[in-house]
Amino acid sequence: MYFGVDYHPEQWVYPYGGSREKPESAWQRDIELMQTAGVNVVRMGEFTWGICEPEDGKYDFGWLKRVMNLLGKAGIKVVLATPTAAPPIWLSQKHPEILPVDERGLIKREGTRRAVCLNSDVFWEHSKRIVENMAKALGQHPQLIAWQIDNGLGAHFTEAAFNEDTRRDWHLWLEAKYETIERLNELMGLRHWGQLVKNWQQVPMPMAAPTVHNPALVLDWCRFCSDTIVQFVKMQADLLHQLTPNCPVTTNLRPLVHRFDHFDLAEVIDFVSIESRAALRPKSAELACEIDMLRSLKKTGIRTPDGDTGFWVMEQKAGNVTWQDVNSLVRPGVLRMFTYQLISRGATAIVFFRWRQPRFGSEKFHGAVLQHNANANSRVFKEVAQLGDEMKLLAPAVKGTHVQAETCILYSHDNDWALQQPMQPNKFFSLREHIQLFYNALHDRNIPVDFARPAEDLSRYKLVIAPSLHLLSGGDSDRLKLYVQNGGTLVATFNTGLVDEHNMAPDTGYPHNLTDLFGLEVLEFDQLPPGEENHLTFKGTFPSSHMHPARLWCDIIEPKDCQVIASYAKDFYAGRPAMTLHTFGLGKAVYIGTQSHQYFYTDLVTWLRQLCNLHPLLKVPDNVEVSMRQKDDEQVFFLLNHQASPVRVQFYKPMHDFLTGSTFTGNYDLPPHGVLVLDEQAGAKA
Ligand code: GAL
Repeated sequence: MYFGVDYHPEQWVYPYGGSREKPESAWQRDIELMQTAGVNVVRMGEFTWGICEPEDGKYDFGWLKRVMNLLGKAGIKVVLATPTAAPPIWLSQKHPEILPVDERGLIKREGTRRAVCLNSDVFWEHSKRIVENMAKALGQHPQLIAWQIDNGLGAHFTEAAFNEDTRRDWHLWLEAKYETIERLNELMGLRHWGQLVKNWQQVPMPMAAPTVHNPALVLDWCRFCSDTIVQFVKMQADLLHQLTPNCPVTTNLRPLVHRFDHFDLAEVIDFVSIESRAALRPKSAELACEIDMLRSLKKTGIRTPDGDTGFWVMEQKAGNVTWQDVNSLVRPGVLRMFTYQLISRGATAIVFFRWRQPRFGSEKFHGAVLQHNANANSRVFKEVAQLGDEMKLLAPAVKGTHVQAETCILYSHDNDWALQQPMQPNKFFSLREHIQLFYNALHDRNIPVDFARPAEDLSRYKLVIAPSLHLLSGGDSDRLKLYVQNGGTLVATFNTGLVDEHNMAPDTGYPHNLTDLFGLEVLEFDQLPPGEENHLTFKGTFPSSHMHPARLWCDIIEPKDCQVIASYAKDFYAGRPAMTLHTFGLGKAVYIGTQSHQYFYTDLVTWLRQLCNLHPLLKVPDNVEVSMRQKDDEQVFFLLNHQASPVRVQFYKPMHDFLTGSTFTGNYDLPPHGVLVLDEQAGAKA
């Protein structure tokens, strides 16, 4: 198992470290301390283009080679990042056309990272050149185990640039998609406000305008910008695969933040790497949701440096960040606990951002394993070193194990982009919040969850939840029907199938192409402002623990041959169905026409567990998160106490803890932020 840090050796040469005579001598001390912390891999290089190519066409990779040699002596492997996230200043000044133009037509200037237009031919040529030279200089180094392509793609709102090169590529992209201008006019609905075009060159980029652009055009623009990012990564991946075929490639991703299709991106890299935000004190279920989403991006064809088929955490924040208003410290034990959360959900390598707080630059007060003074007695260093020791114990137990889920939540970027546009029925609706309501209920019952796009093969899941697939293509809805027909259980909700893949509303009733699957038709949808509620009245066996409200959105449903589970209690649609169940082929299709509070989703999961025969992993008190990784019949359980106080856990069978070697039976008090990594079989044997 790889365990390491993001290292920036370029920031620790004389006069910031070392001496005039030996300007690089600080590296040796860094490496010794890394060994103390149990580090066996570093990622580096991601912002070093200006140092590796100080002048146009003049390269210096010698310093990177010297660091890699030193790391080699200590047995530490290297993931090298291609440095295209931060072009050198000479490049932007020599070719200002690479600088990104914003939606108002203003140029964003050089002097920071990400100041580029990814459609620029000049930028592509220079990127190819630096990647090729880097791979030729360092690609055969024995320490190199993987490449990270670029860094933080799309960050700082750089998913789109409105340059002339972009305009050219946009028109080519549209031509490849629509083939004729008539088709484009028709499928984009450009008759709206009479914005019909006569040739490709007339199609606008959605720049700042008095009001909203055509939503179909904006959706295509998001797809085009996403394709641009994916193609840029693919260009580098192809080059690296050709020059260093044995080195897998990755890039670091954050969930739901940057506007490009992460599933598409995962297809062009060998393994997924993620950034984690434990430092921000979010709720554990929110972090867990993000981790599961990122793990799910790539389910097959994974190639990692150590042959394990998981994902890497390339930037686990080792402490506070610098980009919040108030950057609080991460409490003792919390970093360790959230590191185990990542491992418990499938991570096969942990790399901390960053090794040491830099003495200069905008991130000089960012948390790190080592503070400015490099004191190995510091709190965070000791916590990381403890983890380093524990990883050695844990590695054999988790080798080859995976998270296996029987439940899946559907998510597609296309749908999210359609929903992010203005002029929605209810601007207070949030897809993320809606997903999180379902996710929390499953998470709190310790039911493992995968995410998938609707187009994936869903046959392995007993239960598929589809929160608000507002945009649903004909192909996707056919696949959902097939899934249910063959015995699956599908739960869909309001705001489903209101438009097709062209962002066009159907003239055959809502939800688009699925009225037969659910045995109903949505006639109208009412919108409630925040604070206003309708109520749900249940019939039959639904286990309602509370009065459940209907919020934000109420579908007015005409039942055909579905069974009504709940109805609305008031307003002109009082008595109309709000939740239904329909048997379709061998499976079941549940429709929920409104959004409720968290208790409703908890009750729903209780009901669905029976309906689909789903089993929670272990019974534990609230605030203890359980996950499991498994390989054949070997099961490794992770128990995390999210509370700042101890929690009593009861073991009905003996369980063996990998971290302490102890065996537990009966009561055990899990300490504040404590972690157990358990194995039932070894315990039973003991
Ligand atoms: C990441 C980025 C790092 C650093 C970090 C700060 O997204 O990749 O370079 O800026 O955020 O938290």
